[in-house]
Amino acid sequence: MTTILAIESSCDDTSAAVLREGVLLSNVTASQAVHKAYGGVVPELASRAHQQNIVPVVDQALKQAGVTKEELSAIAVTLGPGLMGSLLVGVSFAKGLATSLGIPLIEANHLQGHILAHFIQAPDERKDTPPYPFLCLLVSGGNSQIVRVDAYNKLEILGQTIDDAAGEAMDKCSKVMGFGYPGGPIIDKLARQGNPHAYSFSKPHIPNLDYSFSGLKTSFLYFLRDRVKEEPDFIEKHKEDLAASLERTIVDILMKKLDMAQKQTGIRHVALSGGVSANTALRQAFQERAAKRGWHIYIPRFAYTTDNAAMIAITGYFKYLDGDFCPIDKPAYSRTVLNS
Ligand code: KG4
Repeated sequence: MTTILAIESSCDDTSAAVLREGVLLSNVTASQAVHKAYGGVVPELASRAHQQNIVPVVDQALKQAGVTKEELSAIAVTLGPGLMGSLLVGVSFAKGLATSLGIPLIEANHLQGHILAHFIQAPDERKDTPPYPFLCLLVSGGNSQIVRVDAYNKLEILGQTIDDAAGEAMDKCSKVMGFGYPGGPIIDKLARQGNPHAYSFSKPHIPNLDYSFSGLKTSFLYFLRDRVKEEPDFIEKHKEDLAASLERTIVDILMKKLDMAQKQTGIRHVALSGGVSANTALRQAFQERAAKRGWHIYIPRFAYTTDNAAMIAITGYFKYLDGDFCPIDKPAYSRTVLNS
């Protein structure tokens, strides 16, 4: 019986999951509230919080799964990309535990994990998994990419952001408005009460399938600065419309390129992944576009959109079946292109 313990600590969530024969038995995540006061993740505080959380989180994941560490077949861990100090906590812990138990270590790429989240099966659910090939719009705090997926380990980036990620744009614009962190869920909530056509912000003109969000961030900043000069409580009075208009602009930019990628490749199975895929307007736009164009679509459960170890567990399981193990001296990496 194949039982995988997975560990994810690439940013500000410490997460551990247990998967047996491809079925998820537990997925425990400790998020770090400490960053809220700073309006973004503070790397050193993140590393410290991972050190506090890692042992109890792994312990709880094993207990919830009803699995002892002696029953584990392998340990999968996110080796990158992410914050180096954060990664080192999870990677060192996983290496130590795998060595002491005499079982293989499996490396998982964080972005591959987000995409393979579509294959997570919980015991109580039967869900459709995308057939290969499929397209995946991967949108998170650190990435915005359109990926062609031909197999679990054959991934090709068709387009990606040349500057900020979509989630980063939401977080930065939220900060400019004086809202909390992370900004994505706050903007999502406010936007539901606002008019998405109240204001217009600049959209990038990039010819291929790449994205750019830094111009939008700047145009949003200048727009607010001018309006606040005329009306000091402009943001407070119009926050719902501002959130809805900003969100609409980001969703339009994302959907336009996804549409282009779908037309260019002819692939009809299309998936969403990453933290921003929790966004209400993006999910709605995705569903509407699918209905119009006849796409088969795949949207992950909310629990698997943001960082979690369940996605690392399923990645680890596929690699385990292929005997694809990681040398114990392989170091963590902060940046990478997405391969396998
Ligand atoms: O995937 P994730 O947890 O971490 C990374 O790997 O980056 O994504 C975090 C990002 C943040 O930028 C956060 O603001 C955004 O996902 N996010 C959302 C929503 N929930 C999380 N953005 C828009 N709407 C949401 N509901």
